[in-house]
Amino acid sequence: MQQNQTNPREILITGATGYIGKKLKQRLLERSDLRLRLLVRDPARISAAARQECTIIKGDTFDPVALEDALAGVDTAFYLIHSMGSGADYAAKDRTSAQNFRRACENVGVKKIVYLGGLGERDSASEHLLSRIETGEILSATEGSSTRTLWLRAGVIIGGGSASFRIIRDLTRKLPLMITPKWVNTKTQPIAVDDVLSYLEASIDLELQENIKVDIGTTATDFCGLMRQAATSMGLKRRLIPLPFFSPRLSSYWLVFITQVPFSIASALVDGLKSETIATNENAAKYFPEIQPMTMEQAFEKALQETTLD
Ligand SMILES: NC(=O)c1ccc[n+]([C@@H]2O[C@H](COP(=O)([O-])OP(=O)(O)OC[C@H]3O[C@@H](n4cnc5c(N)ncnc54)[C@H](OP(=O)(O)O)[C@@H]3O)[C@@H](O)[C@H]2O)c1
Repeated sequence: MQQNQTNPREILITGATGYIGKKLKQRLLERSDLRLRLLVRDPARISAAARQECTIIKGDTFDPVALEDALAGVDTAFYLIHSMGSGADYAAKDRTSAQNFRRACENVGVKKIVYLGGLGERDSASEHLLSRIETGEILSATEGSSTRTLWLRAGVIIGGGSASFRIIRDLTRKLPLMITPKWVNTKTQPIAVDDVLSYLEASIDLELQENIKVDIGTTATDFCGLMRQAATSMGLKRRLIPLPFFSPRLSSYWLVFITQVPFSIASALVDGLKSETIATNENAAKYFPEIQPMTMEQAFEKALQETTLD
């Protein structure tokens, strides 16, 4: 018992070169009771300082040998990856990736998989969201093994480095009058990136008897509400005029024009905005009562401070 308390627990982070994984790595490096491993495709993208403090395993989820090497002796394994930028067959890649990861976790006896996916339901899901749901289902198919899966589901993440946040900020900043597609009325439940990190970190200490899904977010709003909040937080007055004939494809071109995000990201985001992203369970309060998500206003103010307006 004593030995368990003094021996640091081994934690694996996948996606440590991505937006969420990088921030999680920074946060967990503060904890002396944890030892971090990072599974990365390109170790040169990890800073020299982090390379000193973490064990780096070069590889990806399509390499079963690297996976078992990375996972052997691990207590909690974070699955913070997706294949969205990898071409048209990304959903098939995501399925294979999740199957490989779950199998490797079961083979080496990992205690817990923590996966961050998206809020939203199968019947109204965009292609991207559907792939995130399939990933969660595959990772959660651990019945009969000792591995448990904690599937966190988040909507729009409000943080300086989040693509969705930057689009909302840029649109609001550049356009005093916005002609918008119908999707601005789609319901959504945003969350501050720091709160996402708090749930991920607290997941390490949660003892699970079964696989669980935990929906996280602050008070629900719609995309109109997000843009109005962005305007208020930047001290701007803005008007939104929704037009029913404004198609998603047109909206994607328009986003590229206004915000200069690549078309593939803009169209995936616009497609996703058609699906409601609302919490459908109370598990955040049940399993993590100590975490009080910040309000949308606080989240925007923090995210705006994190970014330099260009
Ligand atoms: N960002 C959001 O707004 C948001 C909202 C809700 C949920 N989420 C969820 O949060 C998770 C992380 O998202 P993110 O925004 O941090 O993603 P991201 O910034 O696009 O990063 C993706 C990461 O996955 C890695 N990766 C991709 N395929 C891999 C593979 N086969 N093997 C190993 N690594 C691989 C990438 O490595 P390389 O650097 O080598 O490409 C990168 O580090 C995802 O599950 C996403 O669905 C994100």
